[in-house]
Amino acid sequence: MVGVRQNTRTLVTGSAGAIGRATAAELKSRGHFVRGFDRVESPHADESIVANLADAGAVRDATRGMDTVIHLAATPDDADFMSELLPNNVIGLFNVFDAARDEGVERLVVTSTGQVVGGVPRYTDRPVMLEDGTAPRNHYAVTKVMAEAMADMYAHRHDMSVIVVRPGWLPRELHHVHGIMKSEWGQAVYFSPNDAGRFFRCCVEAVGVKHAVLFATSKSNGKIVFDIEPALELIGYEPQDVWPQNCPHPLPKDE
Ligand SMILES: NC(=O)c1ccc[n+]([C@@H]2O[C@H](COP(=O)([O-])OP(=O)(O)OC[C@H]3O[C@@H](n4cnc5c(N)ncnc54)[C@H](O)[C@@H]3O)[C@@H](O)[C@H]2O)c1
Repeated sequence: MVGVRQNTRTLVTGSAGAIGRATAAELKSRGHFVRGFDRVESPHADESIVANLADAGAVRDATRGMDTVIHLAATPDDADFMSELLPNNVIGLFNVFDAARDEGVERLVVTSTGQVVGGVPRYTDRPVMLEDGTAPRNHYAVTKVMAEAMADMYAHRHDMSVIVVRPGWLPRELHHVHGIMKSEWGQAVYFSPNDAGRFFRCCVEAVGVKHAVLFATSKSNGKIVFDIEPALELIGYEPQDVWPQNCPHPLPKDE
């Protein structure tokens, strides 16, 4: 990777969420302007728009004047399809892509999930790689396969720069921390808020990327589940934390 995109004007959807807060703070610390878009106020952004992704006009207005969009807003796990996933993860996804194309956005970063490979066999001798394809095992993961397909379509048909990120596990709630503590797999895919901020910042700053799908985790605890080497090579991401460093919730003492 040669050169860095600097001083961007970046729209972050889901900017009040766990990954969004870390991303907005990191981008601002590097001199980028951050416009937040969420159903609630985004205190970490330079500018905060409170609106719903299902409102195409609001998404379009928020996208105007931005050169970069990081699309994080979504229902972040499996949920009722008609009332949650359809408006937030499908209609909202379409609204963001459509607005980004029409408003001439230079770089769109879209969030998928490691759950898109939920049904891919777990190998003992190597990590899951991009070449293993996708095998969603719930409706949430299906919406993220759609996000990946949409990225491919817009990158190639509409000549946009689109990076798809497949995050590991950034614990939003205390019970997620318990889940990670009890699982070697969970610890291997742990994604600290600091590393998440750095990862999405690298997605913004990387030059010369047309279309990529990248796994994103913190450093390995020994076991490697997802192959993050392509992110190191393509966008210059260097994870700094290993589980449980910078975990956003206190670790229970008796476990
Ligand atoms: N945290 C993880 O471990 C993880 C792992 C894989 C993928 N992801 C993906 O990363 C993204 C961010 O996840 P997170 O952990 O920060 O989740 P989060 O729930 O903390 O944040 C999501 C934010 O999106 C907002 N949002 C949801 N629907 C909206 C709508 N219709 N209009 C406006 N705002 C809306 C919510 O208010 C929330 O602030 C999601 O797309 C999620 O699927 C997260």
